[in-house]
Amino acid sequence: MRSMQMAYYRSDLALVHHLGFGAHARACAPGILQLLEPVRGGTVLEVGCGSGLLTRELAAAGHKVVAVDASSAMLALLSAQELPDVEAHLLRLPAVLPAADAVVGVGHVLNYLPDAATIDRAWAAIATALRPGGVLAVDICDLEWGRARRDAPPQGLSGEEWAIVSEFSRPRPDLFVREMTTFVHAGDGCWRRDQERHVNVLLDAAALPGRLAEFGLDVTIGRSFGDEELPVGLYTVIGRAVPPG
Ligand SMILES: C[S@@+](CC[C@H](N)C(=O)[O-])C[C@H]1O[C@@H](n2cnc3c(N)ncnc32)[C@H](O)[C@@H]1O
Repeated sequence: MRSMQMAYYRSDLALVHHLGFGAHARACAPGILQLLEPVRGGTVLEVGCGSGLLTRELAAAGHKVVAVDASSAMLALLSAQELPDVEAHLLRLPAVLPAADAVVGVGHVLNYLPDAATIDRAWAAIATALRPGGVLAVDICDLEWGRARRDAPPQGLSGEEWAIVSEFSRPRPDLFVREMTTFVHAGDGCWRRDQERHVNVLLDAAALPGRLAEFGLDVTIGRSFGDEELPVGLYTVIGRAVPPG
């Protein structure tokens, strides 16, 4: 039986992410831009682009970007920024992807897919999209992500126009669940409340180089794209599409 992915990032959580969670994409951007230098002038495909927090750094550096995401609310926030040389599409991995000279993505996008088999299909789609010699640079949550947060207490964060309370659980060693309650301004001094439950499938990062070699991707697992420090359990998958022959 095929698993269905939940609809993640409705408008309120998308806005909270955009306003309050930009630090990760900003921290990863310099390292990713460095990795993209060999394909400058080509097309960069950004998977799970969200509201465009990394996209705008890619565009500002002069890259031609095709940005895809499964959340229409996230894409609406991206489109509102009218970024130059950015084409955005509503697309749910593991769909067929447009051809590209690089595939990038931050915010552990592949962990949102519902099971390991679907994630494998997404890796295959990425490998097919990448032109020979093309660059891959994404981050993923390893099993360590769940181990490190096994007993994590609930967390509350807020800004001027938003607040979020997150509760965490690990029903299986390879599943990490976040129950998030968001509050955003709804006009007339009122706040609107919404709730989302995100289930992330955690991956065995050490097994990925062997697995991805089967799809023609030569990758290394690392702890950063550049000089940034990633949270415990988040790893980079960086490599190239092996030219045929
Ligand atoms: C944690 S957010 C990161 C967003 C953005 N990359 C950033 O760093 O701000 C994860 C993103 O993955 C997207 N996503 C989840 N499942 C997806 C799928 N199957 N296909 C494409 N995008 C997906 C979500 O809509 C969301 O925008």
